[in-house]
Amino acid sequence: MAKITYIEFSGTEHVVDVKPGLSVMEGAVKNNIPGIDADCGGACACATCHVYVDEAWREKTGEPSPMEEDMLDFGYDVRSNSRLSCQIKVSDELDGLIVRTPEKQA
Ligand code: FES
Repeated sequence: MAKITYIEFSGTEHVVDVKPGLSVMEGAVKNNIPGIDADCGGACACATCHVYVDEAWREKTGEPSPMEEDMLDFGYDVRSNSRLSCQIKVSDELDGLIVRTPEKQA
């Protein structure tokens, strides 16, 4: 299991265990974490699963694919550490990961 901390725009933290193989989005949805709607169900086609990856974790989560970059263009307040959480696959390597949700998804 990988422990993932989701921090809402309001500052409320949710620390949950997510099974490797799921996406960071699925981990949020399964645990009823507000701020990640995932309207398209993880198909990289909605940008409602937008998160900011904590700076310390950017290297481990990697760079967005070109398709993800295109979809991020539809996101609100996109930053250099923006990712679509359905495109980040959870692994033991990501144990301790911290992501924040944008204001618009609060
Ligand atoms: S869930 Fe739709 S882009 Fe991630």
